[in-house]
Amino acid sequence: MIIEQFNKDEFIANYWQQKPCIIRAFLPDYKDPISEEHLAGLAEELDIDSRIVSFDKGQWHVEQGPINNFKKFCKGKWTILVQGVDKFIDNIDYLTDLVRFIPHWRLDDVMVSYSVEGGGVGPHLDEYDVFILQGKGSRRWQVGLPSSFEENIVHPLLKQIKGFEPVIDEVLRPGDVVYIPPKHPHNGVALEPCMNYSIGFRAHTDVELLTGIIDEHAFENADTRYTDNKTMQQRSGELRPGAITALEMKKIKDELASLIFSKNAESAIVQYLSRQSLPDYDYELSQEEIEEVDRALASGATLLRQSGIKAIYAQEQSGEEFEFFVNGERFSTSIAMSEHIQKVVDCREIHLRNHFAANILENDTFSECLKALLLSGYWDYKY
Ligand code: SIN
Ligand code: CO
Repeated sequence: MIIEQFNKDEFIANYWQQKPCIIRAFLPDYKDPISEEHLAGLAEELDIDSRIVSFDKGQWHVEQGPINNFKKFCKGKWTILVQGVDKFIDNIDYLTDLVRFIPHWRLDDVMVSYSVEGGGVGPHLDEYDVFILQGKGSRRWQVGLPSSFEENIVHPLLKQIKGFEPVIDEVLRPGDVVYIPPKHPHNGVALEPCMNYSIGFRAHTDVELLTGIIDEHAFENADTRYTDNKTMQQRSGELRPGAITALEMKKIKDELASLIFSKNAESAIVQYLSRQSLPDYDYELSQEEIEEVDRALASGATLLRQSGIKAIYAQEQSGEEFEFFVNGERFSTSIAMSEHIQKVVDCREIHLRNHFAANILENDTFSECLKALLLSGYWDYKY
């Protein structure tokens, strides 16, 4: 369970969603892209999800951000945790490139934590796969295997578990990684002041997805009403009126299934999966700025995807348009441009003139789509 030489194919075959492991020197000589002071500054922000977890005088305490009094809450053995730091700091977003062998649409965010000696959130379970990279300092990680554990609610906002047997018990040093699959108990205790970067993945439940796509209006125009067509002859005289026959049940389920298999549902699935927790990108551009965007596109400038942004699309699409979503917002181009637009949205940075022939850049639906991306604020440009 200790990998000295990381190989992504071996990792996927033997560990991903199966077994926890330590990856030694995943990033040799890793230098933190953020200081604890900068992290604390993010935790003061209103629209950033943060918390301080401390164990002081025999008591656990959790303080949800925004944090405005660090002296008061950073007592005893404490950790400060900030979600979604990849949305604010490029060098933290770049960490997600290291695990790009897992599809981008499965990625959630990068959480960064700073702990003093003895700090940690205690033994617990998560629902998500996570790669935790050790920044400065060292931390002892214990990881166990799934089982039914007794819950230990040490604070209304902190659910821990009791008594797991570790199968991994190792000290991580800068550049090492621990990979923890969902529902595997784990506990990380800082041996000295340290930084940790948790690249987390998410997985929806079927019910979350179903309610999610209803909220995305997947079925707004679908109003096929039940009819007794072809089912009545199966009902014999003795059958109780309250009974739904197997054929009727099948018809009901088939109709539900045809909703799920509809084109609208497919769009809504992608739309729902694209939703992220993002800072406000709702800029109002001036006429002059819009003209600048036009000039940048006309000159084939470099397009830059903003930190932490992901664009999601269904690979197989039929019809006249190719669509993709960013945080629930729909963008589209003609189906003929699908390969080109995929290249744009999948790259952090792309120089238009170097990558696309003039006839592609002059294609109306392609250039309009690029303009929409720039106007949305999810992409930027440089010369
Ligand atoms: C951390 O403290 O950085 C990670 C917490 C966890 O185990 O989820
Ligand atoms: Co955890």
